[in-house]
Amino acid sequence: MRRKFQGRTCARATRSQTSPEIECKSEKERENVIGGEKMKENKPKILVLFYSMYGHTFRMAKAVVEGVREAGGQPILKQVAELVPEKFWSEDVKKTKELMKDVPVADPREDLKGIDGIIIGTPTRFGNMCAQMRNFWDQTGGDWAIGTLVGKPAAVFTSSNTQHGGQETTIVSTHITLLHQGCVLVGLPYSFTEQMTVDEISGGSPYGASTIAGPMGERMPSANELKMAKDLGKHLTTIAKRLAS
Ligand SMILES: Cc1cc2nc3c(=O)[nH]c(=O)nc-3n(C[C@H](O)[C@H](O)[C@H](O)COP(=O)(O)O)c2cc1C
Repeated sequence: MRRKFQGRTCARATRSQTSPEIECKSEKERENVIGGEKMKENKPKILVLFYSMYGHTFRMAKAVVEGVREAGGQPILKQVAELVPEKFWSEDVKKTKELMKDVPVADPREDLKGIDGIIIGTPTRFGNMCAQMRNFWDQTGGDWAIGTLVGKPAAVFTSSNTQHGGQETTIVSTHITLLHQGCVLVGLPYSFTEQMTVDEISGGSPYGASTIAGPMGERMPSANELKMAKDLGKHLTTIAKRLAS
C-alpha cells in the first residue's frame, strides 16, 4: 500500500520501521532504484558484504568476489562497521583488521542502491548472524520502504568454529531478513558437488557456502570450501544476469 510521507509517495511509510529522518523517494527516483535503470552491458553489480573478526569470512568473501568476476559481474567488496570497542581487540583481531584495512566500510543508507544482487558473509554467533551484520540491516528501513532489493538475488555464506555449531541456522535465519527486503534467495545447489564430500571435514550446504574455523579458529578455509564460495559468487551472478535479461 502506498502512503503519503513528507509530501512524497512511499510504500509503508507510516510503519515504525521508517524513521522520520529517512526521506522516501519520489516515484521516478524509486523506479531507478528498483530497476528502472538497465543493467549496463548485462554486467551485474554484486555487493559482497561481510563481517570478519579473525579472517575466515574475509577469505571466503575474496573467493566469492573471484566467482562474481569470473561469471562476468562487477563485484563490490565491503565490510560492515565494527561494533566491538578497539580497547577489547585481541592481537588476532588487530591482525585481521590490518589485513582488511583496504576494504571500505559499507554505508547502510547508500550501498544497497543500484546493485543487481547481494552476497552476505557473516560468522555465526550462537547460530545467527553477527551483531555487526544485524546492525547494518537495522539501518536499511529506508531502502526496505521503497523496495530497493525487491526481485534482486541474494545469497549467504558463513563461518563457525564447530562443524555443527549453527552454519545452516545462520544462513537460513539470515534468509529471513533478505526475504523481508524482497530478495530472491539463491543457495548452492547439490550440482556443486563439493558439498557432498565425506573424504574430509568441510563446510558447504544447499543453503550456501561455509567454512569451519576450528575450536580455536586455527583452521583457515580449505580449498574445497573456497571453491564453494567462488561457485556461490558465480551462481548468483549468473542468476542476476538471467533476471535482468
Ligand atoms: C559471541 C560468539 C558466539 C559464537 N557462536 C558460535 C556458535 O554458535 N557456533 C560456532 O561454531 N561458533 C561460534 N562462534 C565462533 C565464530 O563463529 C568464529 O569465531 C567465526 O566463524 C570465525 O570467523 P571470522 O574469522 O570471519 O570472524 C562464536 C563466536 C563468538 C565471538
